[in-house]
Amino acid sequence: MANPSIRISLALDAGIPTPPEKGALVFNALDDADYSILGSPICLQWFKPTCDRLDALGFETAQSTSTKSSFALVEIARSKPQTLGLIAQAYDALDIGGTLVVNGDKTYGIESHQKTLRKLFEIDGVASKAHGKVFWLTKNTRPDILDQWLQGMAPVEIEQGFQTQAGVFSAGHVDKGSMLLLDNLTNRIGGRCADLGAGWGYLSRAILERSEKITSLDLIEADFNALNCARLNVTDQRAHFHWDDATQFAGKGYDFIIMNPPFHQTRKAEPDIGKAFIAKASTMLAPKGQLWMVANRQLAYEETLDAHFGQVTPVTETTQFKVINASRPKKPTHRR
Ligand SMILES: C[S@@+](CC[C@H](N)C(=O)[O-])C[C@H]1O[C@@H](n2cnc3c(N)ncnc32)[C@H](O)[C@@H]1O
Repeated sequence: MANPSIRISLALDAGIPTPPEKGALVFNALDDADYSILGSPICLQWFKPTCDRLDALGFETAQSTSTKSSFALVEIARSKPQTLGLIAQAYDALDIGGTLVVNGDKTYGIESHQKTLRKLFEIDGVASKAHGKVFWLTKNTRPDILDQWLQGMAPVEIEQGFQTQAGVFSAGHVDKGSMLLLDNLTNRIGGRCADLGAGWGYLSRAILERSEKITSLDLIEADFNALNCARLNVTDQRAHFHWDDATQFAGKGYDFIIMNPPFHQTRKAEPDIGKAFIAKASTMLAPKGQLWMVANRQLAYEETLDAHFGQVTPVTETTQFKVINASRPKKPTHRR
């Protein structure tokens, strides 16, 4: 996959108007692009680990902005409604005569977005490289359809009264793996609890409804938008919300940790993220604390679980998922 900033420099070479030295806006900024070619932009990003990497590179990051600019770049997202919403936000953030740039890979649908925008605007230029494309246009009149695109990013109600939003994990339905975890979770859950990668709060709401013995529940989630949905879905006073990278979270002494860990951040499976969640959970638990997790059946987490827990019990398995209970977290010095 070509570095996305290569395409932006191609576009700059092809005559795209020069961005301002300060305050160009980058929507859904990526951490494998070099935005210093855009001066000192404001990078809008909602996924905490990506935000942290952009911060470390010295970029200003934000989750929303009221700043107007003469230059806005949208890095397209996997979700089509989310991308259209971002395009509408970027267009609205531009001064009249400003430049909107849309960049992305074919696998994320850049060509379909180009087709959609071509019907509404005059496209000023296009540059292609490897598996991706960048195109740009000038802001003038505002088509009404942008209101619909903005609306497409607002939380909507799905089954069981849950609110979710375009682009978050399992936005349209409750995840089957999470359902399996709930069906097989111990009734003894109580004390200080945490939900690692809590998403829009499905597991959290259910365990709070189920157990009065829970004294507090920390929902730790990297996706800012998913966590905002969780705030709508989980209104129990025992819930506390943390926009954080679970693998960096500082909390300790938990009695129970539940999780349906992420297994990819790109399109391919990346079991290392799940392994990092398991390792982190073992350090967050009290000595008698327990981890309850669900995972895709084909993901090999057993070795990591054995390295970090004294007892690992398979609870149930389906053709797709497995539920595991792990206890007796090992102290770091005793690990292999
Ligand atoms: C498989 S989903 C499970 C979501 C939710 N628990 C459920 O049952 O619907 C994994 C969640 O982990 C989040 N996530 C990914 N990487 C993360 C990280 N480093 N720290 C915290 N959360 C993360 C994702 O945004 C996603 O919401």
